[in-house]
Amino acid sequence: MATIRDLLTTGTARLRASGSDSARLDAELLLGRAIGAERTAVIAHPEAPVGADAAIAFEAALVRREAGEPVAYIRGVKEFHGLAFEVDRRALIPRPETELLVSEAEREVAWRLTSAPRPAGTPGLRVVDIGTGSGAVAIALASLLRARRMLPEVTILAVDCSADALALARENAVGHAVADTVEFVEADLLPVTERPFDLILANLPYIPSGEVDRLPVAASFEPRPALDGGPDGLTVIRRLVEALPSVLLPGGSALLEIGFDQGPAVEAVVAGLPGQWSCRIQLDLSGRPRLAHVERAAATRTGGR
Ligand SMILES: C[S@@+](CC[C@H](N)C(=O)[O-])C[C@H]1O[C@@H](n2cnc3c(N)ncnc32)[C@H](O)[C@@H]1O
Repeated sequence: MATIRDLLTTGTARLRASGSDSARLDAELLLGRAIGAERTAVIAHPEAPVGADAAIAFEAALVRREAGEPVAYIRGVKEFHGLAFEVDRRALIPRPETELLVSEAEREVAWRLTSAPRPAGTPGLRVVDIGTGSGAVAIALASLLRARRMLPEVTILAVDCSADALALARENAVGHAVADTVEFVEADLLPVTERPFDLILANLPYIPSGEVDRLPVAASFEPRPALDGGPDGLTVIRRLVEALPSVLLPGGSALLEIGFDQGPAVEAVVAGLPGQWSCRIQLDLSGRPRLAHVERAAATRTGGR
């Protein structure tokens, strides 16, 4: 019977030959899935024998990975902001860089709730995640706010134009026990009937169409509308920014994930909005521009006593 070491050695060699630049890690994760154990157990017990069924499952996973399929789709799970999300080809695999959007959203909600306490009976702070995909942003935010006991003061809507993605997002919301907190709606950007929001979050597609075909093969397994942002990558984001005057409350903020070179273009669209707006571009942990903070000035009182 083959051992963990035997299967890792041959699996790593095969994945490296197929072009994976993380062959050893991939093999450990896929073997862990096949034997029903964490990667740490795979690393800790190289002499352990692997049963026939697990070896067959590992072989099937290797074949999928050799064809370029992302490890997350093969395992059916991706860790994001400390939570495990169910993932499959219905939606984009959540990326580590998007964790910044969640952290900033949590900070923004906490600041709004603590700096200006809402009188009893006031409707909750209205937050929307546009282009929710697997639900990662909305669900991670809801989980964080629940831990801080802030959830009762917030309503969270999650929107996507893909019915398939929303089905997956609803499954994830059930898995993380926030299905009664996050409302999921199918719409193009925002349902027309929705009232304006205090906080808008969006990781919409922002890769220029011409670059999508040049992405690593793993991206070809993901839904193209989740990646393709049109000729300059900003088609969908520009539409959202132009709609902000009618969907964002005075004093509200929109946090938009963008490509590293798209800050000036987004700032230019914001500069053309009617009324008073500001736009600040935040860098991610690797020092690249990643998040546009778009803020609408609070309404100024006219007249008075
Ligand atoms: C880059 S993915 C992000 C998914 C998820 N928010 C995340 O961070 O993992 C973009 C998502 O936006 C959705 N989308 C694209 N255009 C949209 C539109 N016009 N209205 C609503 N959703 C849209 C796609 O279906 C996809 O799920």
